[in-house]
Amino acid sequence: MENLRIPGPTPLPDETLQAMTKQMINHRGAEFGQMMNGITANLKQLFQTKGDVFLLTGSGTGGLEAAIVNTLSPGDKVLSVAIGVFGERFAAMAEQFGAEVIPLRFEWGRAADVDAVRRALQAEPKIKAVLVTHNETSTSVTNDLASISSVVKEFDKLLLVDAISSLGSINLPVDDWHCDVTVTGSQKGWMAPPGLAMVSVSQKAWQAHSKARMPRFYWDFTRAKNYLERGQTPWTPAVSTVFALSVALEMMQKEGLSNIIARHARVGKTVRDGVKSLGLSLFADENYASNTVTAVAATNGLDIKRLRKIMSEEHQIVLAGGQQKLDGKIFRIGHLGWVTEDDITPVISALKVVLPQAGFKQ
Ligand SMILES: Cc1ncc(COP(=O)(O)O)c(C=O)c1O
Repeated sequence: MENLRIPGPTPLPDETLQAMTKQMINHRGAEFGQMMNGITANLKQLFQTKGDVFLLTGSGTGGLEAAIVNTLSPGDKVLSVAIGVFGERFAAMAEQFGAEVIPLRFEWGRAADVDAVRRALQAEPKIKAVLVTHNETSTSVTNDLASISSVVKEFDKLLLVDAISSLGSINLPVDDWHCDVTVTGSQKGWMAPPGLAMVSVSQKAWQAHSKARMPRFYWDFTRAKNYLERGQTPWTPAVSTVFALSVALEMMQKEGLSNIIARHARVGKTVRDGVKSLGLSLFADENYASNTVTAVAATNGLDIKRLRKIMSEEHQIVLAGGQQKLDGKIFRIGHLGWVTEDDITPVISALKVVLPQAGFKQ
């Protein structure tokens, strides 16, 4: 069997795969309503929030669009804290909908500097919201969101968080860290297939929502809330993915959030120690290393394309490449969701064999 080691979609346990083979049910009926209520309760616990959590049919990017259009108006100033591809995409979306984006960029591979965030907020009092990526999948860096969020709170701004590849795997207490809209995606740490975005909405976000004038229809939180009161979604949901997510969330509850977070921390360390033991270099600042994805630099003559090809064809291990300007410069190992150290050991063993074949010289 293929060992899919990209940062989502992830391999799925049999329980979720089986759930997807279930016959369709009425998405406006009682059985679906019960399932939605169970999913919502589980998500609230795993998001560590007492606020609203909605299930939106769409990918994570749809959830990010929802965060923007539900809280902002054209002309609003937003501070974009970007450390990679996904931070840039979040900002581009806000700009497309008419926000005035103030970019605060950091070198790819580094985390955001909290003091720089403070200085940016001091410099422009009219900023309404801060966009930040918790875990930048393109560079494998986890921002210090606890510190960033306390600065954002100090200035009383809205905090919109892309937690697509962190929530459910890396600790993110949504309420304690004052996250106003927090977005994740079913295909990441949730042991479910792609197709659903899950978003939390704080009281402060609801206040912003009541005044927000960006165009919205499909993603409208008011519609999502009204329908959820009846155990429904406004539009036909991805029913099979909802079945799968429901089962996966039960499995996550059984394991317990702190155990899940600890497992990801253990697996992340196993990956980092493993690649370093082969003489490889981590791309990202290790003080902010992600526990869901690891980027490895193309040093010592390593041909990334060749490495990924041999790993896939001869060892059935699928690794991710670098995105945009990191294409050919890094490869990435995904380790989120249904993963243990046993999935990583064969990756490190295969890398040991393949590295010299892909030009790597010690
Ligand atoms: C941090 C981050 N943001 C946004 C996205 C986009 O999510 P999707 O591909 O589900 O739209 C991803 C997906 O890889 C991601 O990792």
